[in-house]
Amino acid sequence: MILPAFLQFLALAVSVRSAAVPSTHVVHEKRDGLTSHWEKREPVPANALLPMRIGLKQRNLELGHDLLMEISHPDSEKYAKHYTSEEVIELFAPHEDTVNAVRDWLIDFGIEPKRITHSDNKGWLAFDATAEDAENLLKTKYHLYEHAGTGHQNLGCESYHVPAHIQEHIDYITPGIKLLAPTKAKRDTNAKRGTLIQPSPLQPFKKVRPPTKPLPSDLATCDQFITPACIRALYNIPEIPEYPGGQPRTDNSLGIFEEGDFYNGGDLDQFFQTYETRIPVGTRPVSAFIDGAVSDGNGFGGESDLDFELAYPIVYPQNITLYQTDDSYWANNFVFGSSGLFNTFLDALDGSYCTYSAFGETGDDPNLDPKYPDPNGYNGTLQCGVYKPTNVISISYGFQESDLPYYYQQRFLKLGLQGVSVFLASGDNGVSGRPYLPPVGNGCLGDGTIFSPNFPNTCPYLTNVGATKVNKNQTVYDPETAVVDLEGGTWGNPFSSGGGFSNIYPTPDYQRDAVSQYLQNHAPDYPYYYGSQNIGKNGGIYNRLGRGFPDVAANGDNIAVIFDGFAQISGGTSASSPIFASIVNRINEARLNAGKRTVGFINPALYANPHVLNDITVGRNPGCDTYGFLCSQGWDPVTGLGTPNYPKMLNYFLELP
Ligand SMILES: *[C@@H]1O[C@H](CO)[C@@H](O)[C@H](O)[C@H]1NC(C)=O
Ligand SMILES: *[C@@H]1O[C@H](CO)[C@@H](O)[C@H](O)[C@H]1NC(C)=O
Ligand SMILES: *[C@@H]1O[C@H](CO)[C@@H](O)[C@H](O)[C@H]1NC(C)=O
Repeated sequence: MILPAFLQFLALAVSVRSAAVPSTHVVHEKRDGLTSHWEKREPVPANALLPMRIGLKQRNLELGHDLLMEISHPDSEKYAKHYTSEEVIELFAPHEDTVNAVRDWLIDFGIEPKRITHSDNKGWLAFDATAEDAENLLKTKYHLYEHAGTGHQNLGCESYHVPAHIQEHIDYITPGIKLLAPTKAKRDTNAKRGTLIQPSPLQPFKKVRPPTKPLPSDLATCDQFITPACIRALYNIPEIPEYPGGQPRTDNSLGIFEEGDFYNGGDLDQFFQTYETRIPVGTRPVSAFIDGAVSDGNGFGGESDLDFELAYPIVYPQNITLYQTDDSYWANNFVFGSSGLFNTFLDALDGSYCTYSAFGETGDDPNLDPKYPDPNGYNGTLQCGVYKPTNVISISYGFQESDLPYYYQQRFLKLGLQGVSVFLASGDNGVSGRPYLPPVGNGCLGDGTIFSPNFPNTCPYLTNVGATKVNKNQTVYDPETAVVDLEGGTWGNPFSSGGGFSNIYPTPDYQRDAVSQYLQNHAPDYPYYYGSQNIGKNGGIYNRLGRGFPDVAANGDNIAVIFDGFAQISGGTSASSPIFASIVNRINEARLNAGKRTVGFINPALYANPHVLNDITVGRNPGCDTYGFLCSQGWDPVTGLGTPNYPKMLNYFLELP
């Protein structure tokens, strides 16, 4: 860029001035040293306009964790005393002194008050500034950095300064020191289909056609394919929920998240006619479409059909709400494992997510999340707080922890505070990530031997569901085992229940005893390391201090579905999550009818009372050239605490306040 002589002169003056940092200022953030992947390029031109965002120090982040535990632990007097969304915003809003101190600093520097935007939930201040002004303000120098692998360019600095007296009020400032991990490949709209990895759910879809007989009442073939009747028998779920007055509540629809995959109404009808005739043809989820999502993009991958065909037979006549997320352009250009996921969904459920800061992330991430209005797709504005979250949400999508920056991952606590339970498929690759994704070919970390935990599964405020199966020649009355299918599905990757230990989150209190029992008595003889700073140290392949997952399990193999007009067999933890979520939705219905609140974040209650689940003691979850972890008595990182026993769970949760 050719700059006017006047601007060039100023830019030079700035760089000289920024070299001398006044003694009133302190370093606020400093990069530890660039990763070798990023090369420093030219300075940012002085007159380039930068969108500056100042994340204000939130109050009560640690308190937020404690409050969630307090309302989730069965022994607590405050069990199920959830917070309203307004109370949650208030809880985390920065103190007024914080806002004033930072604003005064900006105004003193010369930024007119009218240029400064203050977010609705008070989490951040924003303004546009020339690079020159920003460098002067922060006593820094901005450069472009280029990622060696992808050519992706990012803007950043190596350190920046703020006046000592306001440091305590500032969480972080962007653009700042953070350069993201390799992000999207450059979007080439002329690229041939298939050159970008399509979004795909966590699911090895098996195109095997089972015989069309037998029908639901016959439990004799549950070892070959799992029908709704098999699931009811496995977990003792009564067929028709009892509703006072014969009608389900209108405030207890089950939420299911989908992105880039779409249900087919014809498949659902055929499924109901074949396996569950009490559900009328034409039964469909209630649409909660987000940011230009459509009902049928070009991605019929079978995930959505699977989710609805499992959930409806358990919850019907309760409604299901479909959270279909993001416009087709994003869904089709989404790069698996390096695009963001869930932020636009969270925004739509709770407007304060649009502007909410936590752990260095405010609102959506411009480098990872879609930007709306999207000139190639949805041309409305980002949807914030347009849908009230359902009491239970099931998600069968995810990546690896290592795919995304750690600060992107810490965003689910607020839903728990509001009494929402979120269930996640624990992943289908045992202790490894997906084999064909970076960083290395086998889906493991480091030199390919270190276990790779899943995102967002390891977040301690979610409930992960691993997969079990009914073994050949056995019945629904025999104990299930963990799924191990080393031949894999059509994608060729072996399928086993995702599990292991986080490299980001420490073991939360609610599972500390269960995890230490496992590590003491049942852990395999693999080398390990302690803590996220020591990944791979001394040849270790998993983190003994990490949050363990999954938490629970449910059937996820040989599931009878109708997909693409045919009876087929599907599976994966993608199936396990909607089964468990549906059961909890039924339990919420009973609690609401008893004048109680929803169960909300359910882990502390389950870990404190594991006898309401069927412990799974046989199986393992191979990956990274190991046998993975072994199932054992008590919690294990393959099937968690076990599969649901509906009557026991129902009684237990009805007894709680
Ligand atoms: C289910 O959703 C439909 C469509 O929105 C609505 O008319 C009906 O009242 C809902 N039923 C329940 C039980 O919520
Ligand atoms: C933007 O929205 C309007 C109104 O819905 C529509 O007519 C128009 O085609 C949209 N433009 C693009 C580029 O999608
Ligand atoms: C199941 O039973 C059949 C018939 O008895 C037998 O041929 C087959 O080997 C058995 N399969 C397994 C896995 O036990």
